[in-house]
Amino acid sequence: MNIQKTNGRGVIEIVDLVVDEFHAKKEELIPMLMKINQTIGYIPNEAFDRLSTRIRVPKSQIYSVATFYHMISTKPVGRHVIKFCESAPCHVAGGYEVWKTVLKELGIQPGDTSEDGKWTLMTTSCLGVCAVGPVMMIDDDIYGNLTPDQVPGILGKYE
Ligand code: FES
Repeated sequence: MNIQKTNGRGVIEIVDLVVDEFHAKKEELIPMLMKINQTIGYIPNEAFDRLSTRIRVPKSQIYSVATFYHMISTKPVGRHVIKFCESAPCHVAGGYEVWKTVLKELGIQPGDTSEDGKWTLMTTSCLGVCAVGPVMMIDDDIYGNLTPDQVPGILGKYE
């Protein structure tokens, strides 16, 4: 678990706070998952258990909802999360060459986290800024008009 993000609070406590905030309504499952993911950095197994008990929805059902959404992670993530746009407009703008450079620089595959816990690499569908493709997002920063030679400098900005 990313202690920094949870401020030392336990998983159960965080789930309880989120469930209470949404009045334990099943219909609010997606916002609840988003909030837990945002707070902890991913959804750990014990969070699924607690959520299931609190809102009375089978864990398997919650898990399939969580795994459907790209922005929700069920595995621990790195300190920085890269979301690389793999939709067609970015692809035709030269995204594949940039993507190959990102893979080479990080030495990990999509869905993976680097051994030092620094990076998690993900692909995503359109980020809504196709006019400046190719595009990738690192944490909350968006980078557009990317070329392969910009990649090392951009990655180098992150500690
Ligand atoms: S296709 Fe990449 S941002 Fe839209």
